[in-house]
Amino acid sequence: MASARIPAGVARRTAREIDEALRHAAAMAGDAPSVHNTQPWRWHVADGALELWADRDRQLRVADPVGRMLTVSCGTALHHALVALAAQGLRPAVVPLPDPARPDLLARVTVSGNAPITSADIRMYDATALRRTDRRPVSPDRMDETTMQALANAARPHGAVLRYLTRDRVAAVAELAAAATEAQQADEAWRAELRRWTGDPGTSGTGVPDVNLPERPVRNPVPERDFGRRGTLPVGDEPGGEPVYAVLCGEEDRPAGWLAAGQALSALWLTAGELGVSVVPVSSVIEVPVTRRALRDLLGSTTWPYLVLRLGLTDPRERGPLATPRLPADRTVDEA
Ligand SMILES: Cc1cc2nc3c(=O)[nH]c(=O)nc-3n(C[C@H](O)[C@H](O)[C@H](O)COP(=O)(O)O)c2cc1C
Repeated sequence: MASARIPAGVARRTAREIDEALRHAAAMAGDAPSVHNTQPWRWHVADGALELWADRDRQLRVADPVGRMLTVSCGTALHHALVALAAQGLRPAVVPLPDPARPDLLARVTVSGNAPITSADIRMYDATALRRTDRRPVSPDRMDETTMQALANAARPHGAVLRYLTRDRVAAVAELAAAATEAQQADEAWRAELRRWTGDPGTSGTGVPDVNLPERPVRNPVPERDFGRRGTLPVGDEPGGEPVYAVLCGEEDRPAGWLAAGQALSALWLTAGELGVSVVPVSSVIEVPVTRRALRDLLGSTTWPYLVLRLGLTDPRERGPLATPRLPADRTVDEA
């Protein structure tokens, strides 16, 4: 007899098999991108439910005191877990922020039934292992309209909108990014925090290693994070192309909006991989309150900016970046 807590649609699977599938999804979510590769999430699997918790021990207390980037990062992990469930033929049901008394419980995922596994599900799942933050210059070939539309379409169902920036607005965002970078660099506490998350990762399984940072500064219209160190990622001598910029936006500057933004970011980033598009977040503008508000004003004050993104076709002329390290699953997935 099927256990009472197994929905009828998945009755062919035992409770243990469902918990196993949830645990697998949580482990696969470890490949998700996160600010400074902090992986600030913790999963708890029990009784047919997968809970996503914020791990405040890995929050950037200086750069991200309210946990905006932490929550966006957890949203990318949530989307990765849902992709892994779809690839196992399971239809997930998600309740974001299910308990107001426990705000660090960001989502509860259950399985509502079986679902046919489509080729798109498999492609998305494969993309989770291949996706990288590629900080090299983009290719001189421009992205076409269809590709840009496909990225926006990938983000939209998750509750965040990808707004492409006109040239004028790129110039304005460049000024904001420069101001944000200057403000952060002037703060010794910020620099100390950055140092803790960059360079030789040792066995920590977190942080941004030198092999993922360009061997020489890459000039882009919008200044990107200055990690304060020269990396070893080969960049090549050929000049790169001109990137396209977009802002991931939504209706609320609160955890629900940030979590949705993370899911949208993951969805568009995995789609980007399939289309040969590189995605580099530029989060300094959002991290610094005064530039975040200025960006909101620039966008017309009707929307909240969650993340600025540099987009462009991946340059195939050089080898791309390696995978950054990850925490072992037993550090992020709790046993029941
Ligand atoms: C919310 C968020 C903000 C990020 N901000 C930046 C950024 O400002 N600059 C940057 O170079 N990378 C940024 N990244 C990329 C992370 O550094 C990257 O995901 C992490 O180091 C893991 O590497 P991977 O994406 O290659 O797996 C950000 C990622 C996320 C999810």
